[in-house]
Amino acid sequence: MAYYVINGGRPLNGSVTISGSKNAALPIICASVLAGEPCRIENLPDIDDVRRITEIIEMMGAKIERPCDGVIVIDPRTIEKYAVTNEMAAKLRASYYMLGALLGRYGYAEVAQPGGCAIGQRPIDYHINGMRALGATVQNRGGIVTASSDKLTEADIYLDMASVGATINIMLAACRAEGRTVINNAAQEPHVVDVANFLNTMGASIRGAGTNVIRIEGRKNLHGCTYAIIPDQIEAGTFMIAAAATQGNIIINNIIPTHLEAISAKLMESGIEVITGDSGADFYMQIIANDRPRAVNIKTLPYPGFPTDLQQPMTALLSIATGGSSFVTENLFEDRFNHVRELNRMGAKVTVNGRTAAIQGVDRLYGAEIYASDLRAGAAMIVAALMAEGVSVVRNIHYIDRGYENIEQKLRALGADIKRVEE
Ligand code: EPZ
Repeated sequence: MAYYVINGGRPLNGSVTISGSKNAALPIICASVLAGEPCRIENLPDIDDVRRITEIIEMMGAKIERPCDGVIVIDPRTIEKYAVTNEMAAKLRASYYMLGALLGRYGYAEVAQPGGCAIGQRPIDYHINGMRALGATVQNRGGIVTASSDKLTEADIYLDMASVGATINIMLAACRAEGRTVINNAAQEPHVVDVANFLNTMGASIRGAGTNVIRIEGRKNLHGCTYAIIPDQIEAGTFMIAAAATQGNIIINNIIPTHLEAISAKLMESGIEVITGDSGADFYMQIIANDRPRAVNIKTLPYPGFPTDLQQPMTALLSIATGGSSFVTENLFEDRFNHVRELNRMGAKVTVNGRTAAIQGVDRLYGAEIYASDLRAGAAMIVAALMAEGVSVVRNIHYIDRGYENIEQKLRALGADIKRVEE
């Protein structure tokens, strides 16, 4: 098992370029199944989750070409299997997007209950209810969800929570359904908008993505297209936090500033300088931290609130905050505080009570052997190790490989002392 050895205490300095968005890339790859022609997808991040979802559609019969780094061409016309087996689904949660994509395209889908990061219960009842509302017969037996329909038809759907996965899955199926489907209380995350833009480039008619009401006019056919994925909001946020944690000064290129507003606001509240600029070719953000952060409170919320996916790295940063205690409330997932035990082993003083972590800032963390328990807990471990005094060994980095492209090289280029060891 590979691990990182990080010698902490060095400020990050220099510039870094953000890769394509993981949580947009995964549904977009699945959405290509809906086309009647090949789709060329650009700015794909080179991460394990993208490799796994690509393997899944390849095993189903799609032809994949990789003309150059960060680009794949998917030809779905040769797909002949409509089932995602247990073995495939266990590899990543986003395999559930095949439910909407296959049902929309072929009228039949069989998808095993998905795996993914263990951060709570993570049911898929909204997805299933959405497919039923569109007229599909859905059964959920022995961990396998089977959906079938001769003809999907329009529906007016209300989501109890603004679920990213359910919003996208329903969009996928509805863009091949007859009539106009409305999703109320839809998720508004940047990756939801990116998937809608991709589908529209394929000839779908989706309006309102990015607001809480999405309207989808079903189409009989969707065509091939070329599409470039947006930059990864969470990767950008992770580098913002890492710069703040090490009292660094970095420039982050290839970002969309509006996607980062909640994170920028919280960093500024904690005394970190955040400057947004436009180089002409691109937006960038500069993070300047001259001191430890001041204590702030965070509540995770659906977009445009503070993203749950940055709660864990932010908790690591706030463990060295000055000026009292910080309170971090996790509203999305009920079990997303597994990183706290590791932070405390490094000298942090964090106590968790239900969904809230109370963080009493300490002067510094100390290097330790620490374990990532999921992807973003892994990012939190890296942030903690970068700011700690002494050497840390970060284990379970296969979680980090799922969602961060070349994080070790990117951090080293910023001056971090980080080494990957393959055992
Ligand atoms: C997506 O997960 C992301 N995953 C997660 O990214 C992210 O943390 C999450 O959205 C929130 O932004 C992918 O995009 C692949 P949800 P998803 O449905 O779609 C409840 C990362 O680190 N819910 O928006 O699974 C659910 O339990 C990850 O990159 C139901 O009750 O999240 C949660 O409390 C991990 N029933 C809330 O809604 C359902 O059918 C929001 O979950 C669906 C969701």
